[in-house]
Amino acid sequence: MTLAARLALHPEFTVGETDPRIYGSFIEHLGRAVYTGIYEPAHPLADEQGFRKDVLEMVRELEVPIVRYPGGNFVSGYNWEDGIGPRDKRPKRLDLAWATVDPNWVGVDEFADWARRANAEVMMAVNLGTRDVDAARNLVEYCNHPSGTQWSDLRIANGHPEPHKIKTWCLGNEMDGPWQIGAKSAADYGKTALAAGRAMKAVDPGIELVACGSSSESMATFPDWEATILDHLYDVADYVSLHQYFSKNGWNDRRSEPYGTPSYVAQSVRLESFIKSVVASCDHVKARKRARKSMNLSFDEWNIWHRNPPSGVEIPRASIAPPLLEDVYTFEDVILFGSMMLALLRHCDRVKIGCLAQLVNVIAPIMTSANGPAWRQTTFYPFLHGSKYGRGTVLDTLVVSPSYETAEWGSVPYVDALAVLNRNRSGMTVFAVNRSETQPALLTADLAGFGAARGMTEHIVMDGHDKQAANTRETPHRVTPRSGGESKLDGNQLTATLTPFSWNVLRIALN
Ligand code: AHR
Repeated sequence: MTLAARLALHPEFTVGETDPRIYGSFIEHLGRAVYTGIYEPAHPLADEQGFRKDVLEMVRELEVPIVRYPGGNFVSGYNWEDGIGPRDKRPKRLDLAWATVDPNWVGVDEFADWARRANAEVMMAVNLGTRDVDAARNLVEYCNHPSGTQWSDLRIANGHPEPHKIKTWCLGNEMDGPWQIGAKSAADYGKTALAAGRAMKAVDPGIELVACGSSSESMATFPDWEATILDHLYDVADYVSLHQYFSKNGWNDRRSEPYGTPSYVAQSVRLESFIKSVVASCDHVKARKRARKSMNLSFDEWNIWHRNPPSGVEIPRASIAPPLLEDVYTFEDVILFGSMMLALLRHCDRVKIGCLAQLVNVIAPIMTSANGPAWRQTTFYPFLHGSKYGRGTVLDTLVVSPSYETAEWGSVPYVDALAVLNRNRSGMTVFAVNRSETQPALLTADLAGFGAARGMTEHIVMDGHDKQAANTRETPHRVTPRSGGESKLDGNQLTATLTPFSWNVLRIALN
């Protein structure tokens, strides 16, 4: 039976404008993200600085505007000074977060160079685990101060006469997590981050700061953590962070059984309730402080993460760049991933920054083999579609859809959808997911409020694959999008068929 779904939308009912940084990503010194991921000097496609040009091309294709660096858990034990200056003098350090060795071949200068080539800004995290105010303010001085001081002159001596002009800074990473090196109580983190943040902004008043929120919605301390840290940090911070990963096998929910497909692909509803709760926490503190400013959200780690640790691979401890967290994404993952992205967009009035965690090799849309090719995972495509066609004004899109019951998350609509008007209002994109594995959905919308719509530009679809189908080195193009979905505009009436279990991008030309 065909499901009937209807969208109610009007150009005056808006959520807000997307901040380009909602399509950000993340590179950590973890596994092969940096070494043999973005950097591999011996690779035939390496540029003069050792960066892989094939990877750079794919990153540019995604139009990622900002990349968080260097961690993640890694940053909480990182001495940034280890990664600057002549390479042969840089120390090899034990990385306690991932039980590996970091040779420091890439540090802040090289990463800033890489990001420029990728057309992206750097979002820099400072170490508030083993270090504090001094290291943090010195790093801002090294990166952003023009010249004439110890650290800025050292950057110049290291071959970077121009400051890196890094605007967005994270005050540590997941400081509530018992796994974090130097994890802190909310009050201790609040005090340390306040001192560090004040000093960092004194060095460069133009920077923006992201305070660490809870490591996920399932932390026992969520949302008290947010309330306490914001009590300390409300004035100095510009954003509070959110992190969330979902898995099929349920490891991160401490389940012994994997989720069935219907519950698995419905988890974006959890993401939305997490966002709403963090917004409520921020607004509660705002009211208590009689503040004028609203705290915005930086969802700076989001993705699907199935395995922990990777199964079947024995990782020798203390090796350099072993394969860690190299999840292979399936077609089934596309359905959840697409809805997760829509959940962020639906709250773009508060979620200004999003970082798909991560970008290359580590739970990533782009995979490489050392000395071999790079390829796009299944989840590369919905992210590409969002980044290319999902910038502009997000419309408050009412979706009327039949739903199904899940044991874990209650009633969930089969169809998830969201419309984005492009910047010059010459076009609109409707993103739509059909979560039903067996039933097609007929999606209709009355576009009368938009003036006469000119016609369908394109209907891109990902559908019809085996749920477990994936792209690998051997079969890099097994799961890709196709053009030519079934949709039409009859006057102002939009009708589109969402095939069972599909991700859809409906591009509409407006007058
Ligand atoms: O992205 C992988 C890890 O997940 C990050 O290092 C950490 O911040 C999170 O727990």
